[in-house]
Amino acid sequence: MKYKSSDNQRVQKKIMNQFFIEGKVAIVTGAGQGIGKAIALTFAQAGAELVVVDIDSASANSTAQEVHHMGREALALSADVCDTRQVDGVVRETLERFKRIDISVHNAGGGYPTKAILEMSEEEWDKSVALNLKSAFLCCRTVGKVMTKQKRGSIVNMSSMAGFGPYPLGANYAAAKAGVKNLTENLAVELGSYNVRVNALAPGPVETPTIAEYYKEHPDMKEQRLRAIPLRRIASPEDIANVALFLASDASAYVSGQTILINGALPTFVRPELIAELGRRFE
Ligand SMILES: NC(=O)c1ccc[n+]([C@@H]2O[C@H](COP(=O)([O-])OP(=O)(O)OC[C@H]3O[C@@H](n4cnc5c(N)ncnc54)[C@H](O)[C@@H]3O)[C@@H](O)[C@H]2O)c1
Repeated sequence: MKYKSSDNQRVQKKIMNQFFIEGKVAIVTGAGQGIGKAIALTFAQAGAELVVVDIDSASANSTAQEVHHMGREALALSADVCDTRQVDGVVRETLERFKRIDISVHNAGGGYPTKAILEMSEEEWDKSVALNLKSAFLCCRTVGKVMTKQKRGSIVNMSSMAGFGPYPLGANYAAAKAGVKNLTENLAVELGSYNVRVNALAPGPVETPTIAEYYKEHPDMKEQRLRAIPLRRIASPEDIANVALFLASDASAYVSGQTILINGALPTFVRPELIAELGRRFE
């Protein structure tokens, strides 16, 4: 059968529409800067109303203003995602304002490789696990209760390539992000019957404004990274936001329980120079 040009346009529109999230209500945590901000702005461009959550109220307000300028509604909320009551408060205020939650991105988190396991304090371990894993559990639990009642929703957690293998000097962060991957798989099974999908993003290195500043001071580190990444560039926050949009939208209607690596085919975080350094570290 031969397509007429009007048929082609209709088919193209139908395909593209699946990536739009027009009128959907999306929570994004850690949306004051970096990857979370890029996700919030990409969602707004794709038509969503936003709940911009950040522990830093000034940056939450600033992202919300940018969303407003795009002609979308935005509610800025200051909350610590490691605190049950504050997470419950975010969901309560979202429902008061928008009456439903279609999409929830649990992005707030972070951590740099700083300490070998033998040098790590219990506090450093607990802090990273609370920020990166417990926060995802708290957000998933509260949002999940709303989405199961609605009988629909898409949850996107933030894991990391660090959760897929060794991340030397950052085992607290890596173990927590591996936990996020497993939490995502379990929750997808537990909520699948309610038409709630649960997926996660696992970026490799991303050049957020903060990291760009760091690279300016340490150009050698950037060079090392670029040499190891087959796609020959470091991801931008928007590279991650585009995959978040895919997972949030109906384009991924049959995808659940997956943690998607977004790393330009970088095979590992283990650098030979680091193995040599570790070989001398505990003598
Ligand atoms: N940047 C990378 O290379 C990279 C790679 C893989 C995964 N990730 C993950 O992506 C996510 C975002 O990373 P980023 O580089 O954009 O970080 P970032 O530090 O630039 O931004 C994180 C945002 O989260 C907020 N935040 C921190 N703690 C919070 C809390 N307890 N409650 C609420 N908000 C809080 C901060 O105020 C900030 O606005 C993190 O989960 C991180 O682990 C980042």
